[in-house]
Amino acid sequence: MTCRKKPKQRWKILHGDALDQLATLKPESVDAIVTDPPYCAGGFTEKGKQAARAMGVRHKTRWFTGDNMGTAGLAFLLRAVACQACRILVPGGSLLVFCDWRMVPALAPALESAGLRHQNLVVWDKGSIGLGKGFRPRHELVLHFTKGGVKPRYFSKSGSNLIPCKRVPARKRVHPTEKPIELLERLIEVVTPEDGLVVDPFAGSGTCGEAALRAGRQWVGIERGRAFCATTSERLAQVEEELRCASA
Ligand SMILES: C[S@@+](CC[C@H](N)C(=O)[O-])C[C@H]1O[C@@H](n2cnc3c(N)ncnc32)[C@H](O)[C@@H]1O
Repeated sequence: MTCRKKPKQRWKILHGDALDQLATLKPESVDAIVTDPPYCAGGFTEKGKQAARAMGVRHKTRWFTGDNMGTAGLAFLLRAVACQACRILVPGGSLLVFCDWRMVPALAPALESAGLRHQNLVVWDKGSIGLGKGFRPRHELVLHFTKGGVKPRYFSKSGSNLIPCKRVPARKRVHPTEKPIELLERLIEVVTPEDGLVVDPFAGSGTCGEAALRAGRQWVGIERGRAFCATTSERLAQVEEELRCASA
């Protein structure tokens, strides 16, 4: 689909390491960081985690890097991301971090120790149970922190901390841990204003970018995998064109 209206790109994907690229962003220029880092939860023991590849789930898409760190490695990385969040977020701006329940006790203090305020724990109800035994999981979690100094900034009153949303079917995924667009849209609409800027330092296939554009926000993504950067660019160019034509 093509249309004639003059393009104004509302997104950018930066190839490289999350910490290196976050350091290039201007102070107090970002409304929210919404991100889905590696979960590093592929095993119940540290040895199990390090042996795991992409959460132990084989997928037709490629493996991604950084998913077999131990607990301390992930906590160290995300604390450094939170330090950058303290610098680049507007006062009252939000950091939303997807994680597995096993990592919450390590990650929440790591993020808090960077100087952010712990506000909430959002539960994503996937609507159907996953693999396993006993209490088979059907949820994932999102840690919510804000930059202090002023009250947290909220832009929707209809957000609950329990969000039901079906997962992306495996056959449709272009990333092994792809998140649903509607879920990300719900998160973004609560913590950012119209036209606000969302940053995702672990962008994967750019689902957060698609959600941000569909919600009328701008987006900057960072991703270490070159092939995923290409996937993101392709996805977002299509979405932008679709939205532009729809509003023409
Ligand atoms: C859980 S995935 C994100 C998936 C994404 N939410 C989606 O829906 O496609 C995490 C991504 O972070 C990337 N990554 C891991 N370590 C990184 C780092 N230090 N800097 C930048 N990207 C990194 C991986 O390549 C992977 O694509």
